[in-house]
Amino acid sequence: MTDPLICLGIETTAHTFGVGIVDENGTILANVKDSYTTPSGGMIPTKAAEHHLECCDTVIRAACEKANLKVKDVDLIAYSNAPGIGHMLRIGTFAAKTLAHLKKKPLVPVNHSIAHLEIGRKLCKLDDPLLLYASGANTQIITYENGRYRIMGETLDNGVGNFLDSFARALGLGFPGGPLIEQLARNGKQFIDLPYTVKGMDISFGGLLTHIERKIPSVKKEDLCFSVQEHAFAMLLEISERAMAQANKQQLLLGGGVACNKRLQAMAQIMCKEREATCHIPDNQFLVDNGAMIAWTGLLMYRQNKKKAIVPLKKAWINPYERVDQIDVFWR
Ligand code: ATP
Ligand code: FE2
Repeated sequence: MTDPLICLGIETTAHTFGVGIVDENGTILANVKDSYTTPSGGMIPTKAAEHHLECCDTVIRAACEKANLKVKDVDLIAYSNAPGIGHMLRIGTFAAKTLAHLKKKPLVPVNHSIAHLEIGRKLCKLDDPLLLYASGANTQIITYENGRYRIMGETLDNGVGNFLDSFARALGLGFPGGPLIEQLARNGKQFIDLPYTVKGMDISFGGLLTHIERKIPSVKKEDLCFSVQEHAFAMLLEISERAMAQANKQQLLLGGGVACNKRLQAMAQIMCKEREATCHIPDNQFLVDNGAMIAWTGLLMYRQNKKKAIVPLKKAWINPYERVDQIDVFWR
């Protein structure tokens, strides 16, 4: 029997520098990350890029130690080339290109949003889920139809995580703000009516953000956080449910950092139970940005069709605005 293929994946679309090492059977040999945070204020792309540059060698080494192997022992290198912030994507691309060049390994670019879906599909053993992708920059409802991952609905302005982070910044909390809002919301008692913006299968957070920023001086922050979560998450689940009905999908998969939120998870479970569907939530380390999902998706692509998966080193670059429906899903 031949040894299973092993892939090292590098993630750098946003505030996380992540390295995952995964084998062909889906065994996660390592999943190490270092994330940029601030005690107050938001994320500054140049600072986050400096953070990635500073920690890249340490994180790569830590992942190899965890997996008990060296870069020369892996069969391929995958990296997230899209979508994301150019400053940070360039650091990951450079690191991946360097490893591939020095160790003479094939290099596979991976779409980050698709990786959120593929790792969930593997870990939760799902064949055809609908993904509620709720992260900082991205908020989309994605499912597979006719050879592509299709975006059935999405935010028309901010991602839900960026929306929560902006609200947290207005409250004087640090970055990332989502977990801090979740903590405050647990002590909220009073439900306050706020704007609720659903347009068919799309949503928008701009009006809600302006409204709640004005409310900050007059409402207890715990009550405001509680009410904000109830509104924002109900919007996410309303469009998820509508998309499940329209696309006739019976499995809801959560992905993205905001999906770590226990209240969102509980609301998703209730919605699925009511429509006799199932709800699937990977461990937090695979919901947030991580290298393992990049490694696993790179492996799926490479195993299916090396020619289509690999990019020549000279052409390895980034694509910050790529959308999932631009990708030919040749590995399913
Ligand atoms: P992407 O590139 O996919 O948009 P990202 O850079 O936003 O990813 P993630 O790790 O997926 O990174 O998500 C980070 C976001 O998740 C931040 O906006 C953060 O506030 C939010 N978040 C993390 N934990 C929680 C939580 N418990 N409740 C609500 N939001 C959370
Ligand atoms: Fe992400």
